[in-house]
Amino acid sequence: MITVSDLRKVYRQGSNDVVALDGVSLEVPTGKIHGIVGHSGAGKSTLVRCLTLLDQPTSGSVAVNGKELTNVDSDALRNARRRIGMVFQHANLFDSRTTEQNVAYPLELVGTPKKEIAEKVAQLLELVGLKKFAKGYPSQLSGGQRQRVGIARALATDPDVLLCDEPTSALDPATTDEILELVRKLRDRLNITVLIITHEMHVVKQICDSVSLLEAGKIVEHGDLEAVITNASGRLASTLLPLPGEAPQAEGAGRVLDLLYTGAQATEPVISGIARKFNTDVNVLAGSVEHLGDQQFAHLRVQFAPDVDIAAIIEHLESTGIAVTVKEAK
Ligand SMILES: Nc1ncnc2c1ncn2[C@@H]1O[C@H](COP(=O)(O)OP(=O)(O)O)[C@@H](O)[C@H]1O
Ligand SMILES: [Mg+2]
Repeated sequence: MITVSDLRKVYRQGSNDVVALDGVSLEVPTGKIHGIVGHSGAGKSTLVRCLTLLDQPTSGSVAVNGKELTNVDSDALRNARRRIGMVFQHANLFDSRTTEQNVAYPLELVGTPKKEIAEKVAQLLELVGLKKFAKGYPSQLSGGQRQRVGIARALATDPDVLLCDEPTSALDPATTDEILELVRKLRDRLNITVLIITHEMHVVKQICDSVSLLEAGKIVEHGDLEAVITNASGRLASTLLPLPGEAPQAEGAGRVLDLLYTGAQATEPVISGIARKFNTDVNVLAGSVEHLGDQQFAHLRVQFAPDVDIAAIIEHLESTGIAVTVKEAK
């Protein structure tokens, strides 16, 4: 488990103060995968640096499995840091070291006996599917393979938390999915707690159990994936489930609604149900349906004739658990 309480980081820039983190609190339970998303400048990198105490927070605290990382002496901090494995956008491998020597590096740093290192490294390479590349050099590996080495290295000291900073941002879509699949497998096998910093909604949809939106140093929205994706008033929902392309606005007069809902209702019956119940035409302007895990999520933009009783329709939709946002027709 990772617990962050009221974390603040203020940078002094000349006579100005830059508030990079403005009271961030979050808790990720053991064995869960939590995503942190946010635009450039939101404070994501600062958060990563403060979580690992590479940067000293101005105030607030960070704990892994109840053990404080903040306000401890340097020995305790060094030990606590081993509880956090780091994965970066670029694997940052040593080019002059073989795959197995790269993975061995953190163990050499803490003086692990050679025999133990060899066993551990073999285990880790097996786990990330790189056994036969053990003697190869980074230059002989693909981007995805290099990232696997980086992940194996991050796991060398048996951390409780895996902190991934944009782990797939430099990878193509197929390789991204392979790496995400690997992270999920590692979580399942090792029951490790995973924190993923990303600007890619795809990553959140693929593997996160929960997500936080960071904006100007503050968490402005957070929750389980299913909850945020169906929260029409939140900002994550429409980003996680965008309508395709430039979703058409309504032509001419008519009332336009955006509907967000989970798999309980299938699209066809929802639409035909309203058409029948209110004896009106329903024009589907755009739609996006996604399967996440074993759940289906849908986001529809629909238009009704100008003379319908829109309030009654909205009430009906909401009573069936569909989140409704009213869009103005042009
Ligand atoms: N070392 C620093 N000194 C001064 N300001 C900084 C420093 N690092 C980051 N900042 C500022 O803190 C804010 C958050 O930056 P950062 O954490 O890099 O955001 P992100 O990673 O989400 O793009 C930005 O306004 C940035 O300019
Ligand atoms: Mg950054």
